[in-house]
Amino acid sequence: MRVRLLGTAAGGGAPQWNCACTACRRARAAGSVRTQDGVAVSGDGRSWFLLNASPDLRAQLVAAPELAPGPGPRETPVRGVLLCTAELDHTLGLLALREAETITVYATATVLDALSGPFPVRDILGAYTSVNWRPVAVEEPFELAGGLTVTAVPVGAKRPRYAAAAPSTGDWVVAYRIGDRRTRGVLVYAPSLPALGGPFLTALAGAKAVIVDGTFLYDDEMARATGSGRTATELGHLPVSTSLRDLTKTGVRVLYTHLNNTNPLCAASAPERETLAAYGAEVAEDGQSITL
Ligand code: MLT
Ligand code: MN
Ligand code: ZN
Repeated sequence: MRVRLLGTAAGGGAPQWNCACTACRRARAAGSVRTQDGVAVSGDGRSWFLLNASPDLRAQLVAAPELAPGPGPRETPVRGVLLCTAELDHTLGLLALREAETITVYATATVLDALSGPFPVRDILGAYTSVNWRPVAVEEPFELAGGLTVTAVPVGAKRPRYAAAAPSTGDWVVAYRIGDRRTRGVLVYAPSLPALGGPFLTALAGAKAVIVDGTFLYDDEMARATGSGRTATELGHLPVSTSLRDLTKTGVRVLYTHLNNTNPLCAASAPERETLAAYGAEVAEDGQSITL
């Protein structure tokens, strides 16, 4: 399985356009830009699937040689999109796919409902292209072209703010466990992870790599960096300082992604990265490729 990290920042990207916190200032000074969270995966190198569709998707697609179109004039290796949440940083990019001749979008029924209600992207996109909206039931494996088997793993029920009036129960947040039937390599992708719950830890068994929620290093990071803001826990993101020990203990390769602009780990030279390295964990980078 080939895996390409398209973007590794949380909503807003890093630096964030209106933020002058220490980490954003450093990123601007270093000319370092992280685009918003997304991954592309392929079992055969010909059929590619996007995990989340960030507002940066168009630039991410253009920057990825694996995802270039051809040989036919409108032939694309991008077959579909799998959504982990209905959050805007994971779904706004769907609108950037309107030029597609056809595309399949996989998400839980809860997420699909949000995309036909409070954020009516299904109706909007339907006027431009033919979208096959496929409901995904958690814990029920399904197959993707190119030899991948995927299971959605329920990890949380936090709704996007725009869907505050929607039911508070349901599969609002999932991780994906993706296995290559040929190599037996397994990737777990969990950019939004409120806790190390049972189904998630079960999904890690036998995995080679986990690309996981690294939104915040510390629970009170936003308040520390900007003088206000909710805690990581309140926002549904398990801080790296809490997950590091238990995740690395599993023996699975750990790559932290979905970094918020306040996260000191954004900087390649951050001393905080030494603790991660001591545990054998990594910070995911835009454009990084791994093979499983
Ligand atoms: C999240 O990951 O918690 C959301 O994307 C927050 C947001 O960007 O509004
Ligand atoms: Mn997010
Ligand atoms: Zn900032």
